[in-house]
Amino acid sequence: MTHFLSLPLPRRRSLVRLVAISLALCALLMAPFASKALENGLARTPPMGWNSWNGFGCKNVNEKVVRAAADAMVSSGMKDAGYQYIVIDDCWQIGRDAAGNIMADPEKYPSGIKALADYVHSKGLKFGIYTDAGVKTCAGRPGSLGHEYQDAAQYARWGVDFVKEDWCNTVPGQDSEASYTVMRNALASTGRPIVFSICEWGSTKPWLWAGPIGNMWRSAGDIQDCWSCRRRWGGHGVLQIIDLMDPIYSYAGPGHWNDPDMLEVGNGGMTDAEYRAHFSLWALFSAPLISGNDLSQMTEATKAILLNKEVIAVDQDPMGIQGHRVRKDGDLEVWSKQLSDGGRAVVLLNRGDKPATITANWTAIGYPATLKARVRDLWLHQDLARHTGSYAAEVPGSAAVMVRITP
Ligand code: GLA
Repeated sequence: MTHFLSLPLPRRRSLVRLVAISLALCALLMAPFASKALENGLARTPPMGWNSWNGFGCKNVNEKVVRAAADAMVSSGMKDAGYQYIVIDDCWQIGRDAAGNIMADPEKYPSGIKALADYVHSKGLKFGIYTDAGVKTCAGRPGSLGHEYQDAAQYARWGVDFVKEDWCNTVPGQDSEASYTVMRNALASTGRPIVFSICEWGSTKPWLWAGPIGNMWRSAGDIQDCWSCRRRWGGHGVLQIIDLMDPIYSYAGPGHWNDPDMLEVGNGGMTDAEYRAHFSLWALFSAPLISGNDLSQMTEATKAILLNKEVIAVDQDPMGIQGHRVRKDGDLEVWSKQLSDGGRAVVLLNRGDKPATITANWTAIGYPATLKARVRDLWLHQDLARHTGSYAAEVPGSAAVMVRITP
């Protein structure tokens, strides 16, 4: 065989060119298979934090509220439990200046967004903001369409760590995948690590395309503070959302999560038992845990839910597998999530209003019937007897029992 170096120079050059072209072609052909998840290194476990919308809506949010949320996140112990992002939802924007720069409402945010972000950071927390892929936000404030790079640069200058982008007031024919790709690229171009939260309510099946674009995407319309309800404009109760989350469980994973929407825990529309079930299921889904209540006014029951470290550990399991329904018998359901230690988190859910016994069979959660396993109740914080083959519990109406099963 001829040695490469013994070839004449022009021949060596064309060989090198040939190899380079082949490598580039390989890379190009492999590109679609290389990554199914956004490569920004963020949200390796589901993001945890607080967002103003569910508790304060448009009218009642201002810089005082946001500072109080940051203070309470620290003083309540939520920061120590893993909550991190303080996110202002809609209505902080008022218009654009002559150069097109987005401006905050000076009445609601007299110190400006930069000062607010600095304050949040001074508490050891991260700061998030909201925008919209269309011309206007859902509340009619300026959207980012055509201003994506300008807005992303502004967010980065302010010290934003999280951007939620909504899908209201889009222009006819506007494509969701293309639009969210523009904002992803705009955020990436700032060089600042920014979690990207896609909010198009599941309307164009984002689980099929958003993995390489966003860190999380809404799977349904807006959550309502109710156990079971459906609003004509697309709002959903907890039971309606979990039914939408079940079939898409395989699309979630580290860096890219299905988002069943922010928590309603503590907002007053459900019983504490229903809120415990809501929180249990969100953890079983590996859902972002974004609280949406007034953190400065929490009852002991609300704190006990949001601060349940055993349930949070299920949500934050590093393997990042989304749990799903493994049994349905009318209103009685068993949901299971595989954990990185080989265990299972299991939610026994009673959707009906009468108490009932619900049984999780080992075979339904992927274990042999002969396996002996430890069972721990994650709300009673109690180790139960070892069980073989199944675990059964009496579950009150509109409530759930959550256990961790470890072989
Ligand atoms: C939409 C979103 C909500 C919230 C509001 C704000 O409805 O889905 O989460 O951001 O807009 O206007």
